[in-house]
Amino acid sequence: MLAESKHTSLYVPFECEIVAVTDLTPGEKLFRVRRTDGAELGHLPGQFVQVSLLGWGEAPISVASSPTRDGTFELGVRRAGSLTGAMHLMKAGDRLGIRGPFGTSFDLPRLHNQDLLLISGGCGLAPLRSLIQYCEDRPDEFGNISILYGAKNPEHTLFKDDLAAWEASARFACSLTVDSSSGEGCYNGNVGLITSLIPPLTFVPDHTIAVIVGPPPMYQAVIAELKKKGLPSDRISVSLERQMRCGVGKCGHCTIEHLYCCQDGPVFWLNQVEHLRGAL
Ligand SMILES: Cc1cc2nc3c(=O)[nH]c(=O)nc-3n(C[C@H](O)[C@H](O)[C@H](O)COP(=O)(O)OP(=O)(O)OC[C@H]3O[C@@H](n4cnc5c(N)ncnc54)[C@H](O)[C@@H]3O)c2cc1C
Ligand code: FES
Repeated sequence: MLAESKHTSLYVPFECEIVAVTDLTPGEKLFRVRRTDGAELGHLPGQFVQVSLLGWGEAPISVASSPTRDGTFELGVRRAGSLTGAMHLMKAGDRLGIRGPFGTSFDLPRLHNQDLLLISGGCGLAPLRSLIQYCEDRPDEFGNISILYGAKNPEHTLFKDDLAAWEASARFACSLTVDSSSGEGCYNGNVGLITSLIPPLTFVPDHTIAVIVGPPPMYQAVIAELKKKGLPSDRISVSLERQMRCGVGKCGHCTIEHLYCCQDGPVFWLNQVEHLRGAL
């Protein structure tokens, strides 16, 4: 009976309160959230939660903050459709439902003591931010850390304050780019695809791990550049997005051949998935 109620609880959202809402870009907001029962979320970097709103359903959203930070957690949310549109109308004090955390995390034991290339595009910086904060809070556990980020244009660059702080920090080497810039405003950084940031990098492949999170078109091109520099598939970690419903390996909405993206992923080693049809 106890086992049954524990099992059922995977499907029952717990209540959370929005503590703060910040605009990241015209289409993306950051929600700081806390459980109303005072418990920690208990996530690891790379995991996601199912956010629910009465009348709007559920959507998987990655946790954008590190478990090493205080008792709240953060969700960076792009306004993409009905639930995320409704979320964008919410304010501090409003309540939402959360299930999770679900899925695999970045493989922290394997990242330990390695040099890291943390590569993201667009919204992919949200889950990677959780790992970057984790590395900031446990600086002795990792080698050199390079952050590579690409956005569509300066206006759509996420987490601008964090990026500025990471650029200023001696702990990180940051390379940022935008696909295009109108020249308006004060942007005077790199213009070009994120792949253009990889050739100038110097790293030792046997001591380096790349973690990639971004929109689907980014993966093949970034992986090809990393492989040109000698990084093997078992040193490249990818986080894949699929349509999800249950989040717990029951409904089959998220399959990549025999794998369930919600449980076996979203974080995979490239050698687990590169041979699977449609994975990347
Ligand atoms: C593991 C994982 C992690 C994720 N992490 C994040 C994250 O950190 N941040 C984030 O912002 N997103 C994240 N996503 C994506 C996010 O889950 C989706 O954007 C979200 O599910 C959209 O939900 P929605 O109800 O707002 O959109 P929906 O209403 O379901 O719409 C989704 C898409 O369908 C289109 N659509 C909807 N209705 C119609 C229609 N009638 N006709 C044509 N097109 C239509 C919309 O335009 C939109 O493009 C993640 C996804 C996964 C799988
Ligand atoms: S979302 Fe239901 S099985 Fe993965």
